[in-house]
Amino acid sequence: MTMTHWTDVAAEADLFEGAGIAVTPEDQDIALFSVDGEVFAINNVCTHGNAKLCDGFVEGDHVECPFHQAHFSLRDGSVACGPATEAAKTWPVKVEGGRVFLQLA
Ligand code: FES
Repeated sequence: MTMTHWTDVAAEADLFEGAGIAVTPEDQDIALFSVDGEVFAINNVCTHGNAKLCDGFVEGDHVECPFHQAHFSLRDGSVACGPATEAAKTWPVKVEGGRVFLQLA
């Protein structure tokens, strides 16, 4: 039997609606976003350059890169609008007891 491993990465209270924060569990750089009460985790570094998506603008369930305005879906990391062409990695999220957990593996 395999157990699903969830890693505690943040307090839900650290999140702000419509904005991102960076967390670094297990040496990874991950941006968390809260949108309409739902929490998303996406790789923090843009796939197009050295920009941090946690500093990007949130539009609906997408984040806009602060450098060249590529749009990534917060749900699956897919690119909705260039110049980025490579999807960003995303992770499953759960919120329990006021804490945010990611399934990193
Ligand atoms: Fe993100 Fe260019 S660095 S779109």
